Amino acid sequence: MVSYSKVAVVTGSSSGIGLETALLLAENGFKTYATMRNVNKASNVLEKAQRKNLPIEVLELDVNSDESVHQAVEKIVKAEGRIDLLVNNAGYGLIGAVEDLSTDEVKEQYETNVFGVFRTIREVLPTMRKQRGGTIINISSIAGVVGFVGMGAYVSTKFAIEGLTQSLRLELAPFGIRALVIEPGVIRTNILNSSPVAKRAQSENSAYKEMMERFHQAIGAMVKNASEPIVVANQVLRAATEIQPRIRYPAGPDAEMILSARKQKTDEELEEFMTKMIGEQPAREVRK
Ligand SMILES: NC(=O)c1ccc[n+]([C@@H]2O[C@H](COP(=O)([O-])OP(=O)(O)OC[C@H]3O[C@@H](n4cnc5c(N)ncnc54)[C@H](OP(=O)(O)O)[C@@H]3O)[C@@H](O)[C@H]2O)c1
Repeated sequence: MVSYSKVAVVTGSSSGIGLETALLLAENGFKTYATMRNVNKASNVLEKAQRKNLPIEVLELDVNSDESVHQAVEKIVKAEGRIDLLVNNAGYGLIGAVEDLSTDEVKEQYETNVFGVFRTIREVLPTMRKQRGGTIINISSIAGVVGFVGMGAYVSTKFAIEGLTQSLRLELAPFGIRALVIEPGVIRTNILNSSPVAKRAQSENSAYKEMMERFHQAIGAMVKNASEPIVVANQVLRAATEIQPRIRYPAGPDAEMILSARKQKTDEELEEFMTKMIGEQPAREVRK
C-alpha cells in the first residue's frame, strides 16, 4: 500500500473533480476518505485505487443531511483519530435566469452548495481544533468571482463560499487551521448533465429563451476547451501541501485569465470583458 501520514476527506467523490482529487491525494501521502451520497457509484474510484494500491476508503456522505455528515465524520475520527484535510467539492449548478427560478429550486441549490459546506465544516472543526491544525479547501469557481447569465443561483452560492472562506480564515487562524478556495474555470466533468434546468426556464414562454439559447451555445463552445479534472486536483494537492498556502488558487487557463483581468480592470470593465466573452450585451450599453 502507498504510505500515508495524513487523513483527508473529500465530498462528492463519485465523479469529476472529487474523484480525481481523492485519487491524487491518496497517491501523495493522504489516507483518503472518498465520500459520496450514493456508494453504488464507488466502483470508479475503487477500481483505480486497487490498481495502484492506494489508501482510499469509500464512505457514504450526503452533504444535504446533518445526520449523514455527522455519522461519516464520526466514523472517520473513530478510525483515524484525526482529520488533516477537508475538501468540500460536492455541488451542482442550477440553470435558468433569476426570474425563472422558483424559491424551492434555489433552496435546493443552497442546500447542497452552501449549507452542505457549512455542515461538513462544523463537523470536522472540533477535531481540527483539538489537533491544532488542519486545512479546509472549498471548491469555489470562477463563478465565485464574476457573474454569468443563466446561472444566478449557482453564482450566488459560489460567492457565498468565497465569503464563508474569508471569514473562516480569520476565525481559524488562532487554532492553526487554514481555509482557502480553489477557483476552477470550465472543467470537463458530469456537471452539465447533473445540473438541472429550472422548470420555468424550460418554458417556451420564458422571456429569457433566446438569451438562454445563446448561453447554451457559449457553454458548448467553452466545454470544447475545458480543462481536465486533474488540473483542479493538482491545485488541491498544491494548496494542501504548501507551507504557506494562498487564499485562492485558480485552476485552468480560463480561470487564470479571468482572475488576472479581475486584478487589472474596474468592476465595469470586467463586466464588459466577461459579457463580450459570453456573447451578451454589456450592461453599460443597455443603461445608455
Ligand atoms: N466542472 C466545472 O466546470 C466546474 C467549474 C468550477 C467549479 N466546479 C465545482 O466543482 C465541484 C465538483 O463538480 P464536478 O464538475 O466534478 O461535477 P460532477 O462530476 O457532477 O461531480 C459532482 C459531485 O457532487 C456530488 N454531489 C451532488 N450533490 C451531492 C450531495 N447532496 N451530497 C454529496 N455529494 C453530492 C455528485 O454526486 P452524484 O454522483 O451522486 O450526483 C458528484 O460526486 C462542484 O462544487 C462544482 O461547482 C465545477
